[in-house]
Amino acid sequence: MNQTPQQDSKPGPVDIVIMAAGKGTRMKSRLPKVLHRLGGRALLAHVAGTAARIGARSVVVVTGHGAAEVEASLDSGIAGATLRFARQEPQLGTGHAVQQAAPLLPDDGTVVVLSGDVPLIGEDTLRALIAASAGRRLALLTIEFDDPTGYGRVIRAAGGGEVTAIVEHKDASEAQRTVREIYSGVMAVPARLLKGWLARLDNRNAQGEYYLTDVVKFAAADGVPVVAHVTADALQVAGINSPAQLAALERAWQLRQANALMEQGVRLADPARFDLRGTLDCAGDVEIDVNCIFEGAVSLGEGVRIGANCVVANARIEAGAVIHPFTHIDGEKAGAMVGAGALVGPFARLRPGAQLGAEVHIGNFVEVKNSTLAPGAKANHLAYLGDATVGERVNYGAGSITANYDGANKHRTVIGDDVHVGSNCVLVAPITIGAGGTIGGGSTVNKSTEPGALTVARGKQVSFSNWKRPQKK
Ligand code: UD1
Ligand code: CA
Repeated sequence: MNQTPQQDSKPGPVDIVIMAAGKGTRMKSRLPKVLHRLGGRALLAHVAGTAARIGARSVVVVTGHGAAEVEASLDSGIAGATLRFARQEPQLGTGHAVQQAAPLLPDDGTVVVLSGDVPLIGEDTLRALIAASAGRRLALLTIEFDDPTGYGRVIRAAGGGEVTAIVEHKDASEAQRTVREIYSGVMAVPARLLKGWLARLDNRNAQGEYYLTDVVKFAAADGVPVVAHVTADALQVAGINSPAQLAALERAWQLRQANALMEQGVRLADPARFDLRGTLDCAGDVEIDVNCIFEGAVSLGEGVRIGANCVVANARIEAGAVIHPFTHIDGEKAGAMVGAGALVGPFARLRPGAQLGAEVHIGNFVEVKNSTLAPGAKANHLAYLGDATVGERVNYGAGSITANYDGANKHRTVIGDDVHVGSNCVLVAPITIGAGGTIGGGSTVNKSTEPGALTVARGKQVSFSNWKRPQKK
């Protein structure tokens, strides 16, 4: 090996190892720990996303418990990187985990070791760590905790100098346990050095495990510099071991997302009662009341107001629209769109393919699925519009529905401009209601109607004068 100790070598390409074989016993769940969700995404997906963003050449995920399920969760790959899996069976410790990945790691790269259960590790932090490793050093991400119980302690030479070892909590002396600087579980190291050290690991310690952290003492013994990059951001290194920790990190993450939105000018009634499980793109002067949940990709135009207790997923809401309380919008794959100045809710439901034009009104207990409503159309109460094309200024009465499903196939309903559909009508699709037409309340209509016509399709009203109701005998 010809090393020039004084000069930094090039860090080379980055290869990432994500340890994800552990059981996560304390989650008490049949779902593998790394597949539990934070902000709507699997813990492992957060880490994989960060790996993609730093431009990793390859990613090796070490799997064991629930391996098939964990591997399937990364079916769509990691953008720009070669994704491979190394099975670790049984799980004999973090050092053993990385040993399983070692044969897949080229010698010319810098290896970054991450944990699948530490979801919020940041891109910038990893870049800084890779720079600190500089192709020739072992770089450790560390942090100071008031309560370091359970963590590996960073042991330095007298006077707080060079890092000489990491000692696991269970192996630490009383004096070592007073050290508050802990190892986060994240390191960057040249592959060729790491591989040499992995071959020297043993399990003679309090837990009988192969500790990855033992590489630090080998580095010190070999005269390889060890640098600690101390972070102040506890969220980035927070690991998940229990439902309580998952919930706590979720709240912390949500607060961080809420603060970032408020920073952009979004007015949140209460940042502690806000949940974003995806991406939220907001124009100016957006107001969001308490207890709203945003999922998938949502965009809110200028001046949009979202009332309390709304769930909005995969939707675009244009400028000036108002979503009143308790409304559920889920565009799923097809998406949902609410046009400028539209009013939706309270208690409305927009499903995939709902496309509302400007100034459309959708009122309480109205469901819209795979339907286009032209500007100014209104369905204000207790109605269903499925697979419908609704013209401009249509008024769709309370209790009316499109009967779009014949038990086997879905059919379309076309309602022309300026049509009035009375209350409690059934429009049996396929059907076209001609522009300007009127459908009398209570009609069941199964034949298309001419423009401008009044159509009434219901039993004729019959009255019997002086009708005597039966009397009890
Ligand atoms: C590890 C570090 C400790 C550090 C802490 C930070 C070691 C020996 N100790 O301890 O210094 O302070 O992280 O959180 O590395 N895993 C496997 N296979 C195994 C064992 C673990 O894939 O055989 C995975 C786990 O699923 C987890 C990660 O490695 O994602 C870390 O394992 P964990 O047991 O949580 O490590 P700690 O004991 O917390
Ligand atoms: Ca452990």
